[in-house]
Amino acid sequence: MLSNNWAVITGASSGIGAAILRRLAMKEKNLNCLGIGRNLSRLEEVQQSIDTNNVHIVSADVSTPEGITAIVNALPPNACVKYLVHSAAFFAPIGPLIEMDNAQFREAMATNLEAPLFLTKALLPNLKRCATEATKPRVLHVSSGAAHNAYEGWGSYCITKAGFNMMYRVLAGELSHDNILVGSVRPGVVDTPMQDTVRGYNGDSSHFPMHTKFIDLHSQGRLECPETVATYIYWMLKEINDDEFSREERDIRLSSKDDARWKEYLALNS
Ligand SMILES: NC(=O)c1ccc[n+]([C@@H]2O[C@H](COP(=O)([O-])OP(=O)(O)OC[C@H]3O[C@@H](n4cnc5c(N)ncnc54)[C@H](OP(=O)(O)O)[C@@H]3O)[C@@H](O)[C@H]2O)c1
Repeated sequence: MLSNNWAVITGASSGIGAAILRRLAMKEKNLNCLGIGRNLSRLEEVQQSIDTNNVHIVSADVSTPEGITAIVNALPPNACVKYLVHSAAFFAPIGPLIEMDNAQFREAMATNLEAPLFLTKALLPNLKRCATEATKPRVLHVSSGAAHNAYEGWGSYCITKAGFNMMYRVLAGELSHDNILVGSVRPGVVDTPMQDTVRGYNGDSSHFPMHTKFIDLHSQGRLECPETVATYIYWMLKEINDDEFSREERDIRLSSKDDARWKEYLALNS
């Protein structure tokens, strides 16, 4: 029987978000899982690929007030949000920051920074409804190495991901007083449509010096698969303790302190 508990996942029409939706829905059959994206037909495909009755979808643009309202309205008013995963992101056209179109810079700010803050804020009553000292809802930011490195050609993405990292750190402290945990994860270089876009760059090579690195990683079969990332994220949401979840941003590739536990979990659950 379905409970009143919900997981809300943005970016669920594709890549990492779709894999997280699948993982959560299949592992937690009495948890309602709400997948969000703008592309309804891709969301429907993801929903149909999951053989459970706990997957709900809503087509919403997270960068707009109307989109945030549509997400809130897709939940029953008394819903408890147990997990909120911010995976949606706008990866702006690659090129020099100084030449970037103003409207596209604003779209990056609205999607990668404003949206996760405004959505967490809008769902705060639903998060608080689940929150006790013993069971704390978890909000997870899907971060990136771009939050910590100034990659030429990725200016708006780096800037917004860096802000998104600081947002996680501020909210982790502030929302801890409401028994809500906020964490952040770097998923590595993952085989999703975003990486197709990166490899497909055909502009001036001096504007994107890292281009060949991403082509090489792909040709050497070194991209992480979204399903492994989703398993890691599920492990973070379900298995690690409260302090570990929020204390610092985790990196799926550099998790030496997680290594033994994570590898054992992966071996048993992949
Ligand atoms: N792939 C990598 O190598 C990699 C590495 C580090 C971090 N990440 C991070 O991982 C997360 C997922 O990326 P991905 O690789 O899975 O990319 P992806 O396959 O391109 O997925 C991006 C998702 O974001 C959604 N989205 C974008 N703008 C939106 C908007 N305004 N409103 C609602 N949904 C929106 C897209 O849905 P619609 O098009 O349907 O709206 C799509 O579901 C991102 O936060 C990204 O920064 C990825």
